[in-house]
Amino acid sequence: MPALRSSYTDKLSFFGGIPPQQLATAYGSPLYIYNENILRRSCREVLKLSEHPGFRVNYSAKANSNPSLLRIIREEGCLADAMSPGELRMNLHAGFPREQILYVCNNVAEAELKNAVEHGLLVSVDSLAQLDLYGRINRGGRVMLRFNPGIGAGHHQKVVTAGKATKFGISPEELGEARALLAGHNLTLAGLNQHIGSLFMEPGGYLDAMDWLLAFAAALCPGEFAQLEILDFGGGFGIPYRKYENEARLDMVALGRGIHERISAFAAQTGYKGCFYVEPGRYIVAECGLLLGTVHAVKTTAGRRYAGTDLGFNTLMRPVMYNSHHDIEIYRAGEQNETKLLTQTVVGNICESGDILAEHRNLPEIRIGDILGVLDAGAYGFAMCSNYNLRLRPAELLICADGSCRLIRRRDSLDDLLRNVDV
Ligand code: LLP
Repeated sequence: MPALRSSYTDKLSFFGGIPPQQLATAYGSPLYIYNENILRRSCREVLKLSEHPGFRVNYSAKANSNPSLLRIIREEGCLADAMSPGELRMNLHAGFPREQILYVCNNVAEAELKNAVEHGLLVSVDSLAQLDLYGRINRGGRVMLRFNPGIGAGHHQKVVTAGKATKFGISPEELGEARALLAGHNLTLAGLNQHIGSLFMEPGGYLDAMDWLLAFAAALCPGEFAQLEILDFGGGFGIPYRKYENEARLDMVALGRGIHERISAFAAQTGYKGCFYVEPGRYIVAECGLLLGTVHAVKTTAGRRYAGTDLGFNTLMRPVMYNSHHDIEIYRAGEQNETKLLTQTVVGNICESGDILAEHRNLPEIRIGDILGVLDAGAYGFAMCSNYNLRLRPAELLICADGSCRLIRRRDSLDDLLRNVDV
């Protein structure tokens, strides 16, 4: 169907042949839409990074925890992490058995650690204080430690999770104290993990950090080393958000080669028989998701042309939080692809002047009634939605592999807003 700007989703048949305007009418706007085929493809791409028998993909559920998507990810053969009781509940609801869920938390209450232990999960702690707390709760148990490899990466300072300035991880110099706590609580060190940050587009930093963790593991005492079951290198694999500028993809072949070579050599040299985890969130779900919205007003103020939509930052926080770029498509029936471009700013319906989805974009003229598609919204999209201004969080729809579509989350209702305050 010809639309004003849709060549990217047209090529992928993202909407399964159903016009997006029809979906917006049937399911309401704003609306998150996911494509099952694309989700399965990205799972398979990551699972293929290494054929080493100990290689595992531990999907980081914080990126998107809709249980229908989690079920697909599980079917494809990924494991899952959880960092809160909510994510744990959702992972279980999606059918992940407890052995396939790793609890990677930070700064949590005793009750939360207990909850994870009572569910029989392996837990990773990221400070000496939490290790001590864990030991008091689960004396004689197994635990993983998250170390800070000193190498950080990420698309914004807010998502760099290793290096000097971060709240995350135990520093390698604290190993002695960690050992004392492990011994004091009779704990088994079942694994090591790290996460350098979110969204890198070159494999180098990740591979360097892998080298660091592998060397750190190899330097443990033989007794400690023999207990290790999991070495988890974290996530952070980036996707290109600038599809309409043909931004290059992360070289997954080079990344896979680097990962495979390292873990194979390590296993051969040390006799390690445990698993090696990568822990991507974004890479698995970002590109299968799109946020549909509607244009309700256009105006020109002080020489700036604004398109006013229902896509406030309550629906997609990333542009406001990190200045993130998301490409925007425009669907208007009967129009030819891409006409003359105008510089426009796309804004939402939240009562803040920072409520900007896309600033100074060169796009075909946006008009009232147009349906917009915000690309690559599957990761940290719905997951970071809120009810700010008491707006209702959007529904979520899945375009299934057979082309049919299925509602996988209802839009919030006004009654939902009242549920917790009618006490
Ligand atoms: N493992 C751990 C321990 C993490 O903290 C994270 C992400 C991941 C894995 C997955 O990282 P990914 O592969 O998705 O980059 N809201 C931000 C991203 C925050 C990431 C937080 N931790 C954004 O929208 O860019």
